[in-house]
Amino acid sequence: MNILVTGGAGFIGSHIVDALLAAGHSVAVLDDLSSGSRDNLPAGVPLHVADIVDATAVARIVAAERPDAICHQAAQMSVSRSVREPLFDAQVNCIGLINVLDAAVQTGCGRFVFASSGGVLYGDVTAPAPESTPANPVSPYGITKWVGERYLKFYAEEHGLAAVALRYSNVYGPRQNPHGEAGVVAIFCKKLLAGAAATINGDGRYIRDYVYGPDVARANVIALTADLPAVQPKTLTSLNIGTGIGTDVNELEAQLRQALSDVLAARGRTATLPTPLHGPARPGDLRSNLVDASRARELLGWTPTVSFADGLARTAAWFAER
Ligand SMILES: NC(=O)c1ccc[n+]([C@@H]2O[C@H](COP(=O)([O-])OP(=O)(O)OC[C@H]3O[C@@H](n4cnc5c(N)ncnc54)[C@H](O)[C@@H]3O)[C@@H](O)[C@H]2O)c1
Repeated sequence: MNILVTGGAGFIGSHIVDALLAAGHSVAVLDDLSSGSRDNLPAGVPLHVADIVDATAVARIVAAERPDAICHQAAQMSVSRSVREPLFDAQVNCIGLINVLDAAVQTGCGRFVFASSGGVLYGDVTAPAPESTPANPVSPYGITKWVGERYLKFYAEEHGLAAVALRYSNVYGPRQNPHGEAGVVAIFCKKLLAGAAATINGDGRYIRDYVYGPDVARANVIALTADLPAVQPKTLTSLNIGTGIGTDVNELEAQLRQALSDVLAARGRTATLPTPLHGPARPGDLRSNLVDASRARELLGWTPTVSFADGLARTAAWFAER
């Protein structure tokens, strides 16, 4: 199949590009490189540098590529920026999405997969939340992911798209950008490898469901390309993508520090990495957030395959190499 990945130069998008190419599909990328990088893409993948808010550019690129399916990863994905700049957030995450959906419809693209978020839809939950959990987004970013799914449903029903919203939990892995305020694994890798202590917000007892980026990419490939009863024209299917396993930030930091020490030791560099510091708690941080991905297992045949320990080891090795 011919597939266009918006945000394909970013962390998750570039793993999706790799997985699509490995499965023999033809891929093009639309990205404004605001947080993504050309270096994340294999040579030879066409990269259209454009902003999804620019309807004319989006229409031109989609018309030129004529994809069979679109994988929409491009987004403003900082919760705190969405609080500071809700208009900018809505422009990228709502208007940008509508531009891509309009272009999909105009070019007869049949399938559309959207990166949604379990974390921001379900709020504080102590047990893995199924998709039926009432959505209660509290940040503008969460609101735009929720509204995005509603637009997707409208476009599916009105224009016949086969639409899938994948509600990721906390994704981590190689290529995650360590410069934002999200992506705790990447941020801690960068700090620890620079010889500085990781700073844990508050008491660190914030439980999250960490899922490995290439596992998330595989879920996207299935949703984009497989012939499935759950992926049909005129239908939106929303599915959680996560492990359902909770880890708090204190455990994460300790495991990651060990993984980094092991990687450094394997390279003949024995280093005692500094123990963490505790900073102030971040207002509004959820205590616990987990998703139940049983529906993705039933409908897509998807389950995560990389354990947290393996994923941390691979991520530590990737960051250490840089
Ligand atoms: N990382 C997570 O834990 C997580 C969790 C839930 C949902 N998501 C969603 O997954 C998607 C990918 O996130 P990621 O973690 O790979 O982030 P990322 O920042 O690495 O990727 C986003 C990509 O979109 C591009 N982009 C941003 N604004 C754009 C615009 N206006 N026009 C064109 N391109 C633009 C960026 O340059 C980047 O390459 C996002 O939609 C995000 O909201 C991520």
